[in-house]
Amino acid sequence: MPIVDVTSELRPTPRQRAYDILEHGRRRDLTSRVLDHVLIALVVANVAIAIVETLPETARAWSGWLHGFDRLCVAIFAVEYAARMWVAPEHPPLRHLAPWRARLKFAATPMMVIDALALVPLLLELIMPGSIVVVLTRLVRFLKLARYSPALATIGRVVAAERRALSACIVILGGVLLAAAAVMMAVEGPVQPDRLGTMPKAMWWAASMLAKIGGSELAPVTAIGQIVSAITVMLGIFCFALPVAILGRGFYEEIRRRDFVVTFAMVSRVPLFSGLDAASIAELVGLLRARTVASGTTVVRKGDRGDAMYLIASGLVEVATTSGPRRLSEGDFFGEMALLSRAPRSASVTTLRSSDLLVLDADDFLRLIDRLPDVRARVEDVAKARAGEARAGDGV
Ligand code: CMP
Repeated sequence: MPIVDVTSELRPTPRQRAYDILEHGRRRDLTSRVLDHVLIALVVANVAIAIVETLPETARAWSGWLHGFDRLCVAIFAVEYAARMWVAPEHPPLRHLAPWRARLKFAATPMMVIDALALVPLLLELIMPGSIVVVLTRLVRFLKLARYSPALATIGRVVAAERRALSACIVILGGVLLAAAAVMMAVEGPVQPDRLGTMPKAMWWAASMLAKIGGSELAPVTAIGQIVSAITVMLGIFCFALPVAILGRGFYEEIRRRDFVVTFAMVSRVPLFSGLDAASIAELVGLLRARTVASGTTVVRKGDRGDAMYLIASGLVEVATTSGPRRLSEGDFFGEMALLSRAPRSASVTTLRSSDLLVLDADDFLRLIDRLPDVRARVEDVAKARAGEARAGDGV
């Protein structure tokens, strides 16, 4: 495995750095985290102010400040939007496209559409100042928080994945609502014409019974009406339990799928495993544990007992060898020497950047190389070369 010279990687271009801060380094890089928190605070403050501004006295007393703050937020959101568009060609799925095409595609993504909508109130205010539409559109800015809530994105994916089952629930609910309303109108309509004499009134009754918000003022007076009422309440429980169960199962599937995809995607990026058949990769996926390590963490300490081998799915580490520091990056591996020779760790390995590592426990590693001679040969070649370097460094 080549030891990669990553000096150039260490000095990202301004656009790559901006991309890391804005899009990639979330929860990792301090600047990125600070920026995220500032933007979240601005969105929350902006929405709070949009609500407060609907109170006439507050709006009158603080109009200058509130207006000024809104303008400041809009200016920051506009800069943020422009910056996200600028770094768009750095997104891995868009990298192969011409910059203008990458930006066009990126502008159509849901989060960028929301970001663009967050700027619309300013335009509306210029066209129709003081309109209630401006206040309502300002509340849309709340959706910008979706970017910072992976759970919200998960909900979106689950709803999208289960849309067929959920639309079936809506059809069932609609059917139950219509049937209950029609029967109720037929039975109770003649007795209570002002309350249940028309379909819309009977449908309102049915909806409130299904959602169990019905009040006693709409109680049926006939025996059949009371039976229909009881059945409608029970059907209501069924109609609401069904989507809950569907969404629950969807969440479980989504979380399972996401874990698998992340690991599979990482494994397929490791050159050591290139050439393995799908069955072996699938087996490996079960053996590897994904671990994200913050920059500056010592993953392996010299002299320690070797208990695992590490593959770098993304990031950068430094090996403190006796002949000087060596850098390993995406696709490289480390920690194999102690496992092969059953000797203590030959060097300390520290992350220079936040890194995604795939951890393979010692037992699994030894079993794996027993079964896959190609992988064994590659790992042993690299370990031999590294041991040779160490001997040269020691002056042996
Ligand atoms: P191990 O001895 O288990 O723990 C430290 C690891 O650093 C070692 O395995 C190798 O994977 C790695 N390592 C040691 N020497 C070098 C070197 N010269 N170049 C790159 N990596 C090395």
